[in-house]
Amino acid sequence: MFKRKKKTDLSVENLTIPQHVAIILDGNGRWAKKRGLPRNLGHAQGFATVEKTVFHAADLGIKYLTVYGFSTENWKRPAEEVSGLMTLFRAYMKRLLKTALENDARVLMIGERSRFPQDIIDGINELEEKTKDNSRITFTIAINYGGRDEITRAVNKMIQEAKDGTLTEPVTEQVLAQHLDTKLIPDPDLLIRTSGEQRLSNYLIWQSAYAELYFTDVLWPDFSKEDLIEAIRYYNTRDRRFGGLSKK
Ligand code: IPE
Ligand code: IPE
Ligand code: MG
Repeated sequence: MFKRKKKTDLSVENLTIPQHVAIILDGNGRWAKKRGLPRNLGHAQGFATVEKTVFHAADLGIKYLTVYGFSTENWKRPAEEVSGLMTLFRAYMKRLLKTALENDARVLMIGERSRFPQDIIDGINELEEKTKDNSRITFTIAINYGGRDEITRAVNKMIQEAKDGTLTEPVTEQVLAQHLDTKLIPDPDLLIRTSGEQRLSNYLIWQSAYAELYFTDVLWPDFSKEDLIEAIRYYNTRDRRFGGLSKK
């Protein structure tokens, strides 16, 4: 019924591995619908794929992986779906603490966390604190994240610091970037979106100014190591000029 994907060459020798890969994981709902399952089963499968993807990324030598877990606009969804996502996230955080400690992964969260229940905020703080010295990969989850919200919060932080007298220099791009939630991580080199949609949906809008964009029809729960390698192959075909001239 479904077309089988062609086999991808799994070797990554001779490939430049992007330092930072950002993913808009999309298609959990459609994955479930196709199977006659409730949307939250799609999300459960989506979390399992996130867990596997962190391992694949670390194996491939990707130093930063950032995934979009929940946007500032996703609160518009039915209460049942939102609470189902919170339940899945709670369980995932517990597993993540263990696997991150075992695998030398640093975990960070970006987004406005104060809107979450206190136990989730405590869990996020614990994850960040206990993994802060890990260095194999930095895995960042964007929750209650929106690029516009992030930039707006950064501006308000700078206004407050200017009033307090702690920000005395003019606001440059670097100063603004240091007030974003992503201040500890570099800009993404490769941005992947699954499920066939071709938009940013408010993800890393400042940071992705020069990211290479890769869109695939694969629904997120089906996203495999082969699919990640295919995205990296595409990345290797790009000529990144950053406004300058080609070095080739
Ligand atoms: C992505 O899958 C996960 C979240 C946004 C939380 P979706 O839930 O958006 O899946 P579709 O787009 O409805 O298929
Ligand atoms: C973007 O996906 C948000 C996350 C992946 C968490 P959506 O499914 O919410 O985006 P739209 O509504 O299709 O733009
Ligand atoms: Mg979606």
